[in-house]
Amino acid sequence: MVSFGNSWLTKEAPDREFPANGMEALDAMRLVGEELLLEGDPARNLATFVTTWMEPEATRLITENLHTNFIDHAEYPVSADIEQRCIRMLADLFNAPGETTGARTQGSSEAIMLGALSLKWKWKQRREAESKPVDKPNLVFGGDVHVVWNKFCRYFDVEPRIVPLQEGKYTIGPEDVEPHIDENTIGVAAVLGTTFTGHRDDIVGINDLLVGLKGDKGLDVPMHVDGASGGFVWPFLYPDSKWDFRLEQVRSINVSGHKFGLVYPGIGWLIFREKDDLASELVFEENYLGKTDATFTLNFSTGSSMVLAQYYNFVRLGHEGYAYVIGIMRDNADALAKHLEDIGDFELIGQGEEQLPLVTFRLAGEKPYDEFDLSWQLSAERGWMLPAYTLPPNAENVTVLRALVKENLSRAQIDKLAGDIRDACATLQKKGGAHASERRQIKTGTGY
Ligand SMILES: Cc1ncc(COP(=O)(O)O)c(C=O)c1O
Repeated sequence: MVSFGNSWLTKEAPDREFPANGMEALDAMRLVGEELLLEGDPARNLATFVTTWMEPEATRLITENLHTNFIDHAEYPVSADIEQRCIRMLADLFNAPGETTGARTQGSSEAIMLGALSLKWKWKQRREAESKPVDKPNLVFGGDVHVVWNKFCRYFDVEPRIVPLQEGKYTIGPEDVEPHIDENTIGVAAVLGTTFTGHRDDIVGINDLLVGLKGDKGLDVPMHVDGASGGFVWPFLYPDSKWDFRLEQVRSINVSGHKFGLVYPGIGWLIFREKDDLASELVFEENYLGKTDATFTLNFSTGSSMVLAQYYNFVRLGHEGYAYVIGIMRDNADALAKHLEDIGDFELIGQGEEQLPLVTFRLAGEKPYDEFDLSWQLSAERGWMLPAYTLPPNAENVTVLRALVKENLSRAQIDKLAGDIRDACATLQKKGGAHASERRQIKTGTGY
């Protein structure tokens, strides 16, 4: 028995064999905690779309409810009711025409899987009603989508029909989509706020095309809007821009509560235009938690905290508050863009268009270093995590850097960041790019 000091400080952390003996609670907490200090600092993570700061009152609500299992509606009916309130509020925000339905999910990925499954099942129903084959479903989307759309197609056996990007064109429109649509198309997926540059597909144009196809050819192809990030941005920054249920063929929308919904991970939402857009075969009834309940999820047990935190944000901020917070992000993103223009070494991508609160940029002109080097230098000098990545095919020759501007990135930090980018460029100009061994450690993903 050790009565002073921490014996684990000099021992290897258990990492393979199941520990034979335990340790004091305080020691276990410190063992894990000390190791985590080596992780990146979320406040300087400009790669992630996911919320890295919430109000202390929300954090208290979260910690006080970590011990309830959300799926247990019999025991926790109030949490279940709060989920339904959130679904109704989001349907209202997205201009649903009447009564509808939806689901709380782990994030946009689960929401997309469920939404796209519903597209597949509704397509199957339409085909079977006409005694037509159902063995070759396809889904049409652009190369600007998140990887989850490719995952859906592979996991659930649907042919992906992907419109490639081109240098200078990083979203898609009706002219791109039209050649891919046929009677086996279960739907078109359009993005509101892409992961790569933060812009939106031409959702109005795609809707017009689909409405036309319905009238001319009797082909009813629904659209799902992936509003993982944009669903909490467009209603507040661009309220007159139509992308939601105001458009006839938009049948379902996903949004991540843990991105611009301003909640910690993981919470996402799937909202249908009408109840009938959810294929009834996907809803299962079970009664083993004490009461017959209908579930439409990929996961089962999960925490209630983030549902409650989402509701907290809705009532705490309201439309006015979200518009204020997202407006701050946009203003600070504009300030960063202005700094980058002043530095003069960069070309900004799609600045001034409808966009998420972020800045996507690339180096302009010949330099003895590239975007990956700059990403590396900035993390080495100041700890900023600013990702560099290549765009999807056929724009893979374009490398960009992207800075998310979230609520906790103040104007003072933006000014500091701009100064740090300027300094990193100056260092690289003198010493040249990163060493091959350093380049192997560069963060190259788009972030989450
Ligand atoms: C456009 C888009 N769709 C889907 C996703 C996946 O969302 P989640 O991380 O909430 O599962 C992301 C994540 O960044 C995204 O940007």
